[in-house]
Amino acid sequence: MELGIQGKTALVTGASKGIGQAVAEALAREGVRLFLVARSQDRLAVLADRLQKDGAEVQYLAADLTEPGNTERVLKAARDFGPVELFLGNTGGPPPGTAESLPPEAWQGAFDLLFLPMVRLVQGLLPDMKARGFGRIVFITSLSVKEPVANLALSNAIRAGLTGYLKTLAREVAASGVTVNAVAPGYTRTERVEALFAHQAREEGVPVDAIYRRIEAQIPAGRLGRPEEVAALAVFLMGKPAAYVTGQTWVADGGYLRFLL
Ligand SMILES: NC(=O)c1ccc[n+]([C@@H]2O[C@H](COP(=O)([O-])OP(=O)(O)OC[C@H]3O[C@@H](n4cnc5c(N)ncnc54)[C@H](OP(=O)(O)O)[C@@H]3O)[C@@H](O)[C@H]2O)c1
Repeated sequence: MELGIQGKTALVTGASKGIGQAVAEALAREGVRLFLVARSQDRLAVLADRLQKDGAEVQYLAADLTEPGNTERVLKAARDFGPVELFLGNTGGPPPGTAESLPPEAWQGAFDLLFLPMVRLVQGLLPDMKARGFGRIVFITSLSVKEPVANLALSNAIRAGLTGYLKTLAREVAASGVTVNAVAPGYTRTERVEALFAHQAREEGVPVDAIYRRIEAQIPAGRLGRPEEVAALAVFLMGKPAAYVTGQTWVADGGYLRFLL
């Protein structure tokens, strides 16, 4: 399928590993110019170098998006690089914990990680997108927006809030050629998940393979997802053919969730 985004500029946050990195790689294959953001300068440098060797035009900025001033720095540098028409909004997951026990600081931290940077970046990017009559905003959220996951109260609550924001925004900007969607991964094999499973295995005193087998047994596909399988959905939503698709959350979970819609 011809996505029609060759030569366009994308801002990809949380780009240094996992799903964000896979989106960056997939966009590079489509000939998209990339502005990459994450905290780790070293990882961004390695990724940018690899993508550039494959012919992509790439710049990056190491920035912690929980610090308000950094979203301004990112916006300025990304806009200087090119008119940003594609935005992949992604950061790391918040810590686990129950709704009953998490302290107010943890809620604030999750809001500052998952919600506020997305709003700040979107508000900075929208004027250019609207002026050009084309924009694609895709957030990476989680299947927890469809079915809350036990002991992930921060993710369950704050990502639900972001989903309300995206639904509202999508209607506000739809007539300007800007779409707003979310991709909600199920269990996807990234470093974060490998670390979480290793932690779980230590807690339970079982081999890490046992944790993988237990989770895989709950997934109809019989395996965890691959970052590139989540990325493929995000990149489709950024393409011209997806112009009439907006305000939705799209799940990539190997059939894990049982809901009809
Ligand atoms: N993998 C799954 O199974 C799964 C399932 C459901 C939802 N999710 C969610 O999907 C998102 C991506 O998942 P993933 O597995 O790819 O996570 P990951 O491997 O931990 O990658 C997260 C990315 O965000 C960056 N990042 C983290 N905190 C940041 C900050 N404060 N400022 C800027 N960049 C930051 C990380 O780079 P630096 O460390 O260099 O900053 C990294 O590039 C996460 O929100 C995760 O919770 C994942």
